[in-house]
Amino acid sequence: MPDPLMPEERVKRLRVIADAAATCSACVLAKGRTNVVFGAGNPDADLMVIGEGPGKDEDEQGEPFVGRSGRLLTDLLADAGWQRADIYISNVVKCRPPGNRDPQQDEIDACKGYLVDQIRLVDPLVVMTLGNFSSRLLLKRATGITKLRGHVYPWWGRNVVPTFHPAAALRGGEKVTELIRQDIALARSVVAEARPAEQLGLFS
Ligand code: URA
Repeated sequence: MPDPLMPEERVKRLRVIADAAATCSACVLAKGRTNVVFGAGNPDADLMVIGEGPGKDEDEQGEPFVGRSGRLLTDLLADAGWQRADIYISNVVKCRPPGNRDPQQDEIDACKGYLVDQIRLVDPLVVMTLGNFSSRLLLKRATGITKLRGHVYPWWGRNVVPTFHPAAALRGGEKVTELIRQDIALARSVVAEARPAEQLGLFS
């Protein structure tokens, strides 16, 4: 195993990739975007969250998960003891699909390299995938999120914990929200097992 990168080095390398993504024209989504929404958060995070693609608010602000879904996600993570600054958040596609349509396979393929680089550089203990697109992409399964969620999947020396997309909770109400809560708690338990309590700040 190579030595883990120092946080400053991770920031530097992520910046180089974000700069490349900022002028990306590898797929049709480049035409309609206001901003490339590359990703945000702690480059040294234990938890990386991967959504589907930017919506209107994210496209305007250049930040992932800042709209309604994002506010719900932020609240649910905070309930479990994770602040936004603790984690790293990104998406399968970095540019907004028009009218919030599903990303197409060729767009996902064109954008995949950025996500792979982000996962390699942040090197999280747990990747939480939100919804079908990110879950199927990482786990390489056609199974839907309803069946995939609720489990930890060992994945290239890390762990994937799939859950519903928060947009599904906004549509589906408290029942879906509760399942996301459970999956976040599952992700938290994976991190807690791997990290001594001091590192989680439990004694400070
Ligand atoms: N939905 C996503 O999948 N990603 C975002 O960044 C915002 C909403």
